[in-house]
Amino acid sequence: MPNMLAGRKILLIITGGIAAFKAIDIIRLIKKAGGEVQPILTASAQEFVTPLTAGTIAGNEALSELFDLTRESDIGHIELVRDADLIVVAPCTANFMAKMANGLADDLASTAILARDKHVIVAPAMNVKMWSAGPTQRNLNLIVEDGMQIVGPDEGEMACGEFGPGRMAEPETVFAAIEDYFYTFGENLPLKGKRILITSGATREPLDPVRYLTNASSGKQGTAIAAALRAAGAEIEFVTGAAEVPPPNGVNVTQITTAQDMYDAVHEALPCDVAIFCAAVSDWRPKEVGSKKIKKTGDGEAPSLEMVLNPDILKSVAALEPGERPALVIGFAAETDNVTEHARAKYERKGCDWLLANDVSAKTGTFGGDSNAIVFFDDQGHHEWPQMSKAEVGQKLANRIASFLKQSD
Ligand code: C5P
Repeated sequence: MPNMLAGRKILLIITGGIAAFKAIDIIRLIKKAGGEVQPILTASAQEFVTPLTAGTIAGNEALSELFDLTRESDIGHIELVRDADLIVVAPCTANFMAKMANGLADDLASTAILARDKHVIVAPAMNVKMWSAGPTQRNLNLIVEDGMQIVGPDEGEMACGEFGPGRMAEPETVFAAIEDYFYTFGENLPLKGKRILITSGATREPLDPVRYLTNASSGKQGTAIAAALRAAGAEIEFVTGAAEVPPPNGVNVTQITTAQDMYDAVHEALPCDVAIFCAAVSDWRPKEVGSKKIKKTGDGEAPSLEMVLNPDILKSVAALEPGERPALVIGFAAETDNVTEHARAKYERKGCDWLLANDVSAKTGTFGGDSNAIVFFDDQGHHEWPQMSKAEVGQKLANRIASFLKQSD
């Protein structure tokens, strides 16, 4: 990834929590990458790190007072946000999240947030019970609706001795989100003018008018990928089966039921620059579909099902002739055992350019959950992505696609 931070100015709001010390490492990482940091410390943050420490590492005086007589103008908070390229709140306490969600502006940090015209990355840090509390989760929804980006929190042992989600994401993770922002969402949207096809969700194969074969795909990963690519400026053709979550805003949706419907919709939506096959497609369908509900027989015997193969949509697109074939064809592999081995075989068999494998065995909670651990395959080999939220997988994939298309332009 090119150095996107050089000359960028980040307004870093540090609020009061034991994780405040991690903010110092974030400052170091930004500085090392050539970025500039303007720290703001809330009053309670100063119980954990001193303005002198933050200011010295940043090379910019750390601010905290709304009306600072040494800053010549009393509209300092407006200037601060206008000057910045990005705002980061790390760590963000439950209290500060509540302030941001409700528009409170009673100190420099909260006033800067309310006056913002820049993207905001928030790294929450709090006790596990505070994190899962109804008001915090409601506030979280509000700030996400307002367009803020959330990184973490991580799960693990907390400073207070309790265990669960609430620990601030590691400084490297927050820094990666900052880098991603400048790469993906900087002034020139990297995927503007690109057309990307995404399949998502689960297909349903009817046995009769009331029964069908399907799988446990929630559609969350496909939706998160579509949202990230849309935010990066791409035009999205979203072909989706059954899903637990609605499609993201701003994408063209084609709703389908069966694998054959999905095949038809995908080929109809071509040509495109990139095609991503995230849907969990049924490999087979019942040969006969009853026009009436199949009845129980009097002798108590279960009917036997004869199945036929469904078309392999991914394979059919990967096999298209140059000119018709998308520049990048990306498959997924949901595996329950020997993930890397099975996925490598699939990567070779399908003819796609990249393949993202994930472990969907019950212990991982990937199906229906909000996080994913990916093994990424391309023609250079494979490597593991650490466990991250499905939204982060979407963002990481969007960045990689943008960088691939940029190189091949
Ligand atoms: O063969 P398998 O179903 O495990 O392959 C998974 C990958 O292939 C996914 O990307 C899935 O969306 C795609 N696929 C497809 N059409 C099928 C079966 C799978 O596009 N009939």
